[in-house]
Amino acid sequence: MRDDEFSSMLLAWYDQNARTLPWRIGPAERKAGQIPDPYKVWLSEIMLQQTTVASVRSYFLRFVDLWPDVGALAAADDVDVMGEWAGLGYYARARNLLKCARAIESDHGGRFPETRDALLKLPGIGPYTAAAISAIAYDKRATVVDGNVERVIARLFCIETPLPAAKPELTGYADRLTPQERAGDHAQAMMDLGATICTPRNPACGICPLKKPCLANSQGRAADLPNKSAKPAKPVRYGIAYVAMRADGAFLLEQRPDKGLLGGMQGWPGTGWAEKAANPSPPVAADWRHCHDEVRHTFTHFHLRLSVQVAHLPIAAQPQRGQFIARENLRLTDLPTVMRKVFDAAKPLLQGN
Ligand code: ADE
Repeated sequence: MRDDEFSSMLLAWYDQNARTLPWRIGPAERKAGQIPDPYKVWLSEIMLQQTTVASVRSYFLRFVDLWPDVGALAAADDVDVMGEWAGLGYYARARNLLKCARAIESDHGGRFPETRDALLKLPGIGPYTAAAISAIAYDKRATVVDGNVERVIARLFCIETPLPAAKPELTGYADRLTPQERAGDHAQAMMDLGATICTPRNPACGICPLKKPCLANSQGRAADLPNKSAKPAKPVRYGIAYVAMRADGAFLLEQRPDKGLLGGMQGWPGTGWAEKAANPSPPVAADWRHCHDEVRHTFTHFHLRLSVQVAHLPIAAQPQRGQFIARENLRLTDLPTVMRKVFDAAKPLLQGN
């Protein structure tokens, strides 16, 4: 089969089956002359990195409601943006989002550049995002390869090389299939195919628009590909989180350093996280009580187990670290997920007094 025939079949399927997504200009609207908003394309692609469409949807809608264009986002307060991002994970994305919005305002007159090379110079924009913006927002020919696309290609051409070593090979095939026209729709069609039909488990090969040319399908092996190299086991790290409530109901929170895990986010003061039990280092001397429930949370590179301690502080308490936040100003939804879990574990002891 010729390379361009794959894309013709895929686009014909996309024209009928494209998912309706809040950041997307669908194929019919696009044919009717609607143009995607590069700001929304960029924002959605940053949010969708390592995160599912289902999780991103409500965050995306809230962001564009609060900050409808890149100028509004550039002018936003960091704490507001970090708070709205809370729960989505990979917080470096939110810090870079702000840096990027401000660079667009100050260096590009408020307009996103169109070429992959110019986009690559912006904070938080790597090869994947540059290609996605260039193709989806500006309809330039660029090859967009995410996990969905890798899976589709590995099956289509029966690539045995395990991931991640197979990435360059898969990108080469993906590039060959990218058409000159409608590169943005082609990229989104590949993603939709991977998300809805060519799924990791139980792919629906019977209704796939590419079932005829698909080598893995013809060998009945689609569900076995792509091969993946064994991942090293994740280590377990341990730490202590301290939840302190002052007599007026205020809570002691600490902003985490900008660099590193959960960087720039609000959290409970705590010890470092290490592969052996942490030495206690409470933020203030008090009658600290151990909570019954330990918090468990998994990050990309390790599992975390936090023991949680709770103290009731007098009004005059002078902690060495952190700041008191009045109860009415504390939005638990502004905290990263692991910190919300800490609060849940602390609740029985907070209410006990
Ligand atoms: N995943 C990442 N980017 C996407 C997009 N533009 N459409 C659908 N799924 C995606």
